[in-house]
This record gives sequence, C-alpha cells and structure tokens, in this order.
Amino acid sequence: MQRVTEEPSILTRVESLIGPALVAAERAYDRELASANPYLADILSHTRRFRGKRLRPMLLLLAAEATGGIRDEHITLAAVVEMIHTATLVHDDVLDDADLRRHVATVNARWNNSTSVLFGDYLFTHAFHLAASVGTTDACRMIGRATNIVCEGELTQVRQGGNLDLTEEEYQKIIEAKTGELCAVSCRLGARYADASEQVQNAMDRYGRKLGIAFQIADDVLDLAGTERETGKTLGSDLAQRKLTLPLIRLLSSVSNGTVARARELVASGDASAESELQSLLISSGALASARQSALEYATSAREGLRILPESEGRQLLEEVAEFAVRREF
Ligand code: IPE
Ligand code: IPE
Ligand code: MG
Ligand code: MG
Repeated sequence: MQRVTEEPSILTRVESLIGPALVAAERAYDRELASANPYLADILSHTRRFRGKRLRPMLLLLAAEATGGIRDEHITLAAVVEMIHTATLVHDDVLDDADLRRHVATVNARWNNSTSVLFGDYLFTHAFHLAASVGTTDACRMIGRATNIVCEGELTQVRQGGNLDLTEEEYQKIIEAKTGELCAVSCRLGARYADASEQVQNAMDRYGRKLGIAFQIADDVLDLAGTERETGKTLGSDLAQRKLTLPLIRLLSSVSNGTVARARELVASGDASAESELQSLLISSGALASARQSALEYATSAREGLRILPESEGRQLLEEVAEFAVRREF
C-alpha cells in the first residue's frame, strides 16, 4: 500500500531554516518598544495579542540566508522593518477608519485617533532609534529613504481618492511606493549585510519590489472579495473611500458599456450596499480573475529574478514565498 506523506507547509520550512533568527528579531522588537509608561504598556500588550504574518522580517532573513548567511545586524534590521510596517498600519487604520486589525480591535477603535497617531509616531521613532544601533549609518539611510517613498505613495493615494479615471499605471506607481518599497529594502538589507555584491543586492531589491506589488494586488482583491474572518481586518474600506484598485480599474475599463456605467454609479456612491452588486460585476466581467492573474504574474517574475543566486534552501523558500504571497486568503 502506498503511503501518502504530506509535504511540510512553507511556513514550517521557513521556521526550520530561520526560526531562531525570527524569534530573536521578535525579542529585539519587544525590547526596543518596552515602556514604563502604563498607557503605552497597555497599548503594546493589546497589539501583541495577535501578531501579523511577519512577512518583511521573513524576507530580510531569508534574503540574508540565501546570499551569505544571517548575522546579528540582520536580527536588528528584521525588527526595524516590522516596526516601520506596523507604524504604517496603525496610521493606515486611522485613514481607513478601520476597526479590526490582526483579529483584534484597531488602536483607533479601542482608544482613539489621537492615540493612533502618537503610537504610530512612537513606532517610527523607535524603528530609527533601533536602526541606529547597527554599526553603520547605511541601514538608517536606506530605511529612511524607503519610508519616505511609502509616505509619498500613501499621500498620492489620498489625493487620488474619488478619481474614477485612475489608470493602471498610476495605480501601479502607488502600490509600488506604499508596499513594494519596504519589501524591496527588506530584501536589499538582507543581501547588503550579508556582504553580497552590488549585483545581488539589486536583484534582491527587484525581487522584493515585485513581490510587494503582487502582495498588494492580492490584498486589494481581498478588500473587495475576501472575508473579515479570514483576513482578521476591516475590509471594504477601499470602496468606502472610492479608492480605485486593480479589479475596479479593470471593471471600469471593460468593454461592456452597460456594465461600466452601472459600475461607475456603484463606485461613485461609495455605499456599503453597493458592495454585493459590485462583487457580482467584478466576477462576471472577469475583472477580479484578471487582477488575480496579474498578481500571479508579478510573483512569477519575482521568482525568476532569483536565478542569479546559487541554489539553496533559502533561495527555494524565497521562490515559494513569492507564490504564497499571492495565494493568500489571510
Ligand atoms: C498589510 O500588510 C498591508 C499591506 C501591505 C497589504 P500585511 O498583510 O503584511 O499585514 P500583517 O503584518 O500580516 O498584519
Ligand atoms: C496598505 O494598504 C497600507 C500600507 C502599505 C501602509 P491597505 O490599506 O490596503 O492595507 P490594509 O488592507 O488596511 O491592511
Ligand atoms: Mg487599510
Ligand atoms: Mg488592503
């Protein structure tokens, strides 16, 4: 009789390759943020109730592993990129007026917007404080530059809210800045602090950038068609703010005129009641499937860029993470 042995999941394999480094990064994160201020301690303990996917630390550490090996600096920087990411989420939840994040109440819902703004600032300043403990100033500069670009991307997105004529090129620029850039710098830092060549650092940057774009497209699909139970966060906020994302851009530029007119009306209303009708249109027009396909293509292109690296378990896992990032339902 043939025995069916189940392949260990990608996360289990990531765990067995870089688990101790991920745990060490988690400790560095907690150590840096610890505060004697009872209000802050309360907020920190609330946000620790459910941790995120730790995608950026994972990328940084896998990139290090695949390009020369993990060192102490990588642990610190993995904590730094997660802190920047979390800061952007705390602020993003104010912008989106969201009340659920990582399966628990957002800081703005549990406390208020002022607390979120200041707690986000606390995370940003601690990230740079911690990055400055790495022997060189390079990391601070690189992370500073990436964070500037993330902010610019978010600002452009705010400015474009309500613009129903946003093009795919404009959308792509926004998501590359707000999400691609931090993934790119995470991968670059992994390679740079492993003493990899300039050529390898650039390749890792490109990989992270494409993966980030793929990841954000998948996230935008989930915002329109996912469930809050699985993602653990408030969905539908893109529509509520009349923020055009790839599935909607494709729907509004589809060939059937009747559908386009109705879809424009529904998006312009920004109404929660428009959601189910829009979902049907997104499915029947093929716009949702075509956005998913684009995410997959970015992920495939990200994987292909890794061929420059010698074969290793680290490289293999980076390849699989790219696909994992777009097949997400969480
Ligand atoms: C959410 O990022 C914001 C996007 C860039 C789509 P994640 O999905 O990585 O959030 P957490 O860290 O796992 O909560
Ligand atoms: C990601 O955008 C925000 C940042 C990159 C800061 P979203 O608004 O899509 O993120 P979620 O869906 O709230 O996690
Ligand atoms: Mg949001
Ligand atoms: Mg989203």
